[in-house]
Amino acid sequence: DRKIKIAPSILSADFANFGAEIRAVEDQGADWVHVDVMDGHFVPNLTFGPPAVKAFRPHVKTVMDVHLMIAPVDASIEAYAEAGADMITAHVEAGPHPHRTLQAIRATGKRAGIALNPGTPVEAVEYLLDLCDMVLVMTVNPGFGGQKFIHSQIDKIARLRGMIGDRPIHIQVDGGVDPVTAPLVARAGADVLVAGSAVFRGGSVERADVYGANMRAI
Ligand code: DX5
Ligand code: ZN
Repeated sequence: DRKIKIAPSILSADFANFGAEIRAVEDQGADWVHVDVMDGHFVPNLTFGPPAVKAFRPHVKTVMDVHLMIAPVDASIEAYAEAGADMITAHVEAGPHPHRTLQAIRATGKRAGIALNPGTPVEAVEYLLDLCDMVLVMTVNPGFGGQKFIHSQIDKIARLRGMIGDRPIHIQVDGGVDPVTAPLVARAGADVLVAGSAVFRGGSVERADVYGANMRAI
């Protein structure tokens, strides 16, 4: 279904309080929970590994959407599957054989996504679509929350929507999604919107209603 889904990124949550933060956004209507795995190599920032993802698992009642910003990626896929990811997304730029990477994700029985950095042409996923449940269009360079939305990617989303046709493949957008940019990407054809700072900024678990209000604004 093409109903717009909101996937709050816990990169912008309180790192000392993940269980409560995840519960708070789900109680307020989050559709998926987006987990940003960064290796300090593929991207200039370092976040969670499989043990942390495994610790999040029991708190996530919806869909645990794991975005792997790591290279090489193939050797780690199984660990994230075992940690409890429902959806595993790897970057097309992460290694020389993204087709093999998607086969490896599918082999774990998890849903598979492929991500495109802002500088990567949409054609990079053309021959991968039949192995994908989702394509992630990055609207910032990966690595940090709170960056400015890159408008040139709207055209990429629209072209991707045309390329996908009527196949049941989600288009996820990640980076700088807020109440202003969300309608632009949704109109271009995106249906899963990741939002970090726009959901968590100014909120707190004690004021979980703030998350709900922020999500509804998106
Ligand atoms: C960036 C991450 C994003 C990040 C988005 O590399 O992939 O998921 O959390 O943060 P915002 O919504 O603040 O741009
Ligand atoms: Zn992400």
